[in-house]
Amino acid sequence: MNSTPTATLTAEDPFELSLPATTRWVEPVTRMIADELLDASALPPGAHVLDVGAGTGPLTISAALRGLRANAIDTSPLLINHIAGRLAGLPSLPEGTSAEVMDAMALKYPDDSFDAAFSVFTVMFLGPGVPTALSELLRVLRPGATLQVVHWAAVDGSPLIRILSEAASDIGAPIEMPFEYLRSEELSAALSTAGFVDVEVRPYTADYPFPAAEDVLQEFQSFYVKLPPYRALSPARRAELEEAMTRRARAVETGERSRPILRAQIASAQVPTA
Ligand SMILES: C[S@@+](CC[C@H](N)C(=O)[O-])C[C@H]1O[C@@H](n2cnc3c(N)ncnc32)[C@H](O)[C@@H]1O
Repeated sequence: MNSTPTATLTAEDPFELSLPATTRWVEPVTRMIADELLDASALPPGAHVLDVGAGTGPLTISAALRGLRANAIDTSPLLINHIAGRLAGLPSLPEGTSAEVMDAMALKYPDDSFDAAFSVFTVMFLGPGVPTALSELLRVLRPGATLQVVHWAAVDGSPLIRILSEAASDIGAPIEMPFEYLRSEELSAALSTAGFVDVEVRPYTADYPFPAAEDVLQEFQSFYVKLPPYRALSPARRAELEEAMTRRARAVETGERSRPILRAQIASAQVPTA
């Protein structure tokens, strides 16, 4: 069994910690989602878009490649530097495209700045800050503009989290994930309460790339080592959990279990025109 070298992992922010693994295992899916959202928006080149909690930047990069003026914001300086580097490597950049450290709950943009805004797996992590973030988005979007928000459709909507929670059940130590997510009706209600109109939520599922069973711990450790439910286990229980994750991954590999899919929901909403 692979050991888990937690001692070598020093970053405090789980999103920063998992940058290389996110690029390998998550970004192929978030890039597909970004393209779906941008296709649905049908924005003309030069339109001004906001990517809230941009992470490694799949939506921002895709938007810039389409000639959209994209502003990526994230609270992580490391991720913002990463996006800035990616943007700098593009053959051409729409004027005004930027990547900035900023809190979704305190946007530094004037009112009515954007033609569209996107939150891909970000607002879902803001817990009690969700209403503030949605009000801020309403403020910076122009009348008639669209907001699209993507959430997991369940607390283990991400295959990476599901393998962990299933493995925890396998060893008789079910763990509660410390994530906020909004059920479809809660997400609609939060958007309506914030003042958005024409709110619609639709399910979205996608196939995930998945590492070989022998690599699953090494590849996914950055996603789980910082999670409080994992840290609460004794070293012996952690080892059992990791063995169970490897068994789960092997069952996927042999076809005994179906490949894990992402279960998400996409909400779209408009800013009222009057
Ligand atoms: C799960 S990642 C999603 C990243 C990206 N949107 C994607 O699709 O891959 C959530 C991101 O939200 C960022 N984040 C968390 N709290 C934030 C806040 N208050 N304001 C802005 N970004 C935040 C994290 O740093 C992280 O990059």
